[in-house]
Amino acid sequence: MQSDEIFLKSIDSTQKYAKRNYLNFNKKNITSIFSTEQTSGVGRFQKKWVSNNDNLNVTFYFTLDKNSLHFTSIGHILAISLAQVLKKNELDPKLKWPNDIMLSEKKLSGILCEIIIDDVINVFLGIGVNVNNGKDFLDKIDQNATSLKLETNKIWDKKNLFKDLKFVFLKNLETFKEKGFKPFHSIYENLLLYKNEKITFFDGKNKYTGILHSVDFEGRLNLYISNGQIKNFSAGIILDS
Ligand code: BTN
Repeated sequence: MQSDEIFLKSIDSTQKYAKRNYLNFNKKNITSIFSTEQTSGVGRFQKKWVSNNDNLNVTFYFTLDKNSLHFTSIGHILAISLAQVLKKNELDPKLKWPNDIMLSEKKLSGILCEIIIDDVINVFLGIGVNVNNGKDFLDKIDQNATSLKLETNKIWDKKNLFKDLKFVFLKNLETFKEKGFKPFHSIYENLLLYKNEKITFFDGKNKYTGILHSVDFEGRLNLYISNGQIKNFSAGIILDS
């Protein structure tokens, strides 16, 4: 798959930019939108995504066939890709289902996956990473967060990180397009945070408390509720552990 890149200095949100402009992008390629600064970033569940110049903000736009296997788990593939890049840098990332990337059980990075279906599935996969953020910034976030700088005591080059992430993601995306989530299942499970622990889960409608049992071969979450009952979710958020 060929790759197109758009580098911006400042934009409201790379995600919004991609959705405004995707009809002009080459559907056969992957288009990466990188912006040094985002003034109005968006997170999951319509939340604001707070960032400054120290964050990596990227949206990947590409298409999948309508009959693609397990496409609701495409966000997991980007999460795994970042985890693989971090592991190469001797860090020990974990994934909080569905696709938050965590270091020291604190949020380092979040992924927003949006799709628009026409003759194909148009995928807008946005990733925000706290790269060079200091403690003052992170303390203002409404959840326990960390940055690469805080975890490693060094300044990271955002463009290099982007380059490494894109390289690994493109390779993984080729495999995903061919075989779906299955080849990534054990990689994902090995990175899974809170496995066999008690969690509270919100599916957008109801809250459930149970034991995080596993992730299935399509990337969905299996939550053990009680009396052997397992509930299976393809979207939602872990509230507490
Ligand atoms: C989350 O809620 O955890 C997902 C956050 C996703 C943020 C990224 S930053 C790049 C892209 N542009 C946006 O406005 N949001 C995503």
